Amino acid sequence: DASQSGAVSPFKNPDGELSMNAKKGSRLVALRRLQKDKTNRAKETADIVGTALGNLLGLKENEKNRQSASTHVDATDTGMPSRGDIDRARKALPAYQIKSQIIQTIRDHQVTVVIGETGSGKTTQLAQYLNEAGLCKDNRIIGCTQPRRVAAMSVAKRVALEMDVKLGQEVGYSIRFEDCTSSKTRVKFMTDGILLREALMDETLEKYGCIIIDEAHERSLNTDVILGLFKRLLARRRDIKLIITSATINATKFSSFFGGAPLFTIPGRTFPIEIVYSKHPVSDYVESSVMQAIRIHMSTGIDTGDILIFMTGQEDIEATADTLRQKLTEIYSKRLGVSRYEEIDDIEIFPIYSALPADIQNHIFKRLEQGKRKIVIATNIAETSLTIDGIKYVVDCGYSKLKLYNPKIGLDSLTITPISKANADQRSGRAGRTGPGMAYRMYTEEAAYDDMYNQTIPEIQRTNLSNTVLLLKSLGVDDILRFPFIDPPPLQTLLASLYELHFLGALDNWGNLTRMGSKMSKFPIRPSLSKALLISATNGCSEEMVTIVSMLSVPMVFYRPSERQKEADRARSRFFVPESDHLTLLNVYGQWRSNRYSAKWCSRHFLQYRSLQRAREIREQLIKIMQSQEIELVSSGTEWDIVRKCICSGFSYQAAKISGLGKYNHLQTGMEVQLHPTSALYGMGDLPPYVVYHELLMTTREYINCVTSVDPFWLMEFGGFLYEIKRIKDMEGNGGRGFMDTVSDDQDETENQPDELDLRVKNC
Ligand code: CDP
Ligand code: MG
Repeated sequence: DASQSGAVSPFKNPDGELSMNAKKGSRLVALRRLQKDKTNRAKETADIVGTALGNLLGLKENEKNRQSASTHVDATDTGMPSRGDIDRARKALPAYQIKSQIIQTIRDHQVTVVIGETGSGKTTQLAQYLNEAGLCKDNRIIGCTQPRRVAAMSVAKRVALEMDVKLGQEVGYSIRFEDCTSSKTRVKFMTDGILLREALMDETLEKYGCIIIDEAHERSLNTDVILGLFKRLLARRRDIKLIITSATINATKFSSFFGGAPLFTIPGRTFPIEIVYSKHPVSDYVESSVMQAIRIHMSTGIDTGDILIFMTGQEDIEATADTLRQKLTEIYSKRLGVSRYEEIDDIEIFPIYSALPADIQNHIFKRLEQGKRKIVIATNIAETSLTIDGIKYVVDCGYSKLKLYNPKIGLDSLTITPISKANADQRSGRAGRTGPGMAYRMYTEEAAYDDMYNQTIPEIQRTNLSNTVLLLKSLGVDDILRFPFIDPPPLQTLLASLYELHFLGALDNWGNLTRMGSKMSKFPIRPSLSKALLISATNGCSEEMVTIVSMLSVPMVFYRPSERQKEADRARSRFFVPESDHLTLLNVYGQWRSNRYSAKWCSRHFLQYRSLQRAREIREQLIKIMQSQEIELVSSGTEWDIVRKCICSGFSYQAAKISGLGKYNHLQTGMEVQLHPTSALYGMGDLPPYVVYHELLMTTREYINCVTSVDPFWLMEFGGFLYEIKRIKDMEGNGGRGFMDTVSDDQDETENQPDELDLRVKNC
């Protein structure tokens, strides 16, 4: 076995070639038989529809059905779990065994840290226990935060089912731009960002009696900030209970942060996992993961369990799914004469990543009919926050997409980086929930020791903090540098954020919140966007700006399927407003609205209906906030130059100056950046000399994405303390912009030649 090391390897074929050994042979025979058995189909459909909900239950129905291989799934079986099933499932969870002790500890202490393996019932059970024990007095409620939106929603759904109530009533959830709670809500799941925003409205969080900070080990930015805020809050709200739950990683840190809070461990129940490292470094982790998954599939019985592949993000996940389909089709065509992937009926592939709509994400919980194997391809969302039952094999590509921030150039990038050892262990652990498992790592054992950090660097140390700093300032935290961070962010990042907020007019010269800053903080969007929105209201185009801001808050609206790229690009270019990608988005929305928000119209024009739909919802939410802040909603009609100017007001900090074909220099740092190939600006004969951009992306090179052409005088108007305009004289015969001669304003030789104005950073 050339590609794998480790104690026992099920692979006997050296180069990944899938030769037919005895096991595979029998599997393929079974497969052929299944293919013939078309009567299964009608039942399948009924089953899938009926059980989508029921499968949210952790009853391992998958397993149950698989074991009873001879019994067909009954089409009349709706899959809805009975009360009894639910109660049994709840009682079988490790958390249940120590329920009364947990409650006692929480009663006795203001802060408790609860540690437990993934799947032990922390997220779904703790809130219910607190509710049952009546720990909240005076009609207060229980809040439970999640770092991820998907988890907040799916867990709320699950708990509502367990408590036998309608979602949104006694049990609800709240995520940015979507509130599914009511006055009856007793248990509320929410993202950590939502709790932070609630703290803005009500500093002492009066309505909560208990707050569970779930998945604290993930150390998301907002979770860290909440923990810091609780340091102050605990003294002011003696009656509030704080429960911090964490996977087994590094939990003592939380306990010592809160002066030695009790650590409560839920005894684990895990099965042994065999870890198999790659023998050689792999050059293409997508390819290797696909081959590994296929090897597993071909060499093991379907009834042994499902496969979970960890990938970095949406793109890789889709590439993995595509490659997997393609390779499987090749193999099956040789063996079984299958010509299309759709004809393969013993595998179902489930991609899962956060940009995927919630209803589709929920499909991963669905129970498959017998004789079918699930291959889930997930981001690290499946590491701890989602538990998919029935996984026996894990394939770990060894990387994840990590947000990294460079405060010097203001570059916030999502970069594919090696995971930490803690991540790797979590990933492997997913194979051992229901029985002994196998974890295949697409990296060598040496790499695991040499290249991997023990822990992932907390988000607060690798992200832009402008939003957070604005929020803390609004919460009255004057000295940000002294805020009790559990791990402090780099000083340079904090200073860069303070500087940016100052630039935007949110902070005055002394670092105090201005009226503008206070208004900006009311919007759950980036400071640059809230600034542009506020400026647009006083310039008569907030109607347009609120659309642009909403469109910028959703995943890409343009759809570009790999097999119809040219056609999609043509469709996109029809929406282009040549001087601005922002206005292009405004144009798309406007046309969609004129076409009565039609889904059909979207698919005809290669637009993602769901993204637009979401933009429409966000738009409504933002307008509500605007109304509550008495910010006018006014339209500039067809006059769009003023919209560009307002965009400039929020983004003059992110400006660039042309330096060559498609190339720009970042105004402040001089760094070379490239116009993103999808930009509408390519439609303008000459590229504009000055632009502002929404984001700086780092892929193979630095790209500026979502760009608008601006007048340098606007940049001066909004960024006057940073920029200055010089008139310049182009040196004859030496046209390179780098050799320009600066002349003072009174030497007016270049008058009437606006191209020869040069905007630069002061004192540079
Ligand atoms: O939080 P922790 O990882 O400790 O466990 P949990 O999320 O409370 O999960 C406990 C059980 O509930 C597991 O068996 C999950 O499979 C199940 N569950 C589910 O079926 N559907 C969900 N949306 C969430 C959990
Ligand atoms: Mg959990």
